[in-house]
Amino acid sequence: MNNSWNTHYQNFDQKKYPPAATLVKTLEFLKKTPLDIKNKLAIDLGCGNGIDTFAMLQEQWNVLAIDKQNDSLLRIKGNIPAEHKDQLQLDLRAFENIDTLPDAYLINATFSLPFCHPDHFEKLWHVISSAIPKNGFFSGHLFGHNDSWNPNPEMTFHTSKKINELFKGYHLHFNKEIEKQGTTVSGKTKHWHVFHIVAQKK
Ligand SMILES: C[S@@+](CC[C@H](N)C(=O)[O-])C[C@H]1O[C@@H](n2cnc3c(N)ncnc32)[C@H](O)[C@@H]1O
Repeated sequence: MNNSWNTHYQNFDQKKYPPAATLVKTLEFLKKTPLDIKNKLAIDLGCGNGIDTFAMLQEQWNVLAIDKQNDSLLRIKGNIPAEHKDQLQLDLRAFENIDTLPDAYLINATFSLPFCHPDHFEKLWHVISSAIPKNGFFSGHLFGHNDSWNPNPEMTFHTSKKINELFKGYHLHFNKEIEKQGTTVSGKTKHWHVFHIVAQKK
């Protein structure tokens, strides 16, 4: 899988993808909301190439970018514009080893949480949700059971009922369940079953 993440990063760089629509929506919400917080900290979980990380830095967030792949963090380090260097912290960590996170008004996880091992997801979600203060945001994606990667026992999939349980303490500003035949970033055909989520803690 390590090599395939590298190929994923290369393909992603070439295609020049924009930041995730869920993050863009969240940043729009946040621009409209006057923030009464001392530390404008965002966490990017499974930051990959850092496209979302860079979008948050540009909006003047301090960002803690976490990924289990060193190549991901090295790419971000190599591409960060000098003016944003002081806002960024990089953390080489697997979701399965995250026991605590600092309080963060925005936690973003674009197409990454489904790669957490199912035995560790519940604890990870507890840590994520505990780190988001009242009025703070989660933006990201979870996968449904019809996704064609479902046979992979190391990945986590959810029902829509379970999604509603996870976000019980949140306003779900956006929760779109999309199923479609499509391709991966590397061009392989697959069935996608994805929940696209923007949620704000009550
Ligand atoms: C599909 S990529 C998404 C990257 C980025 N969020 C984006 O949208 O471009 C998934 C990322 O999650 C990371 N990842 C996968 N499993 C992980 C785990 N168990 N712990 C931490 N990061 C993981 C991968 O290394 C990869 O960078």
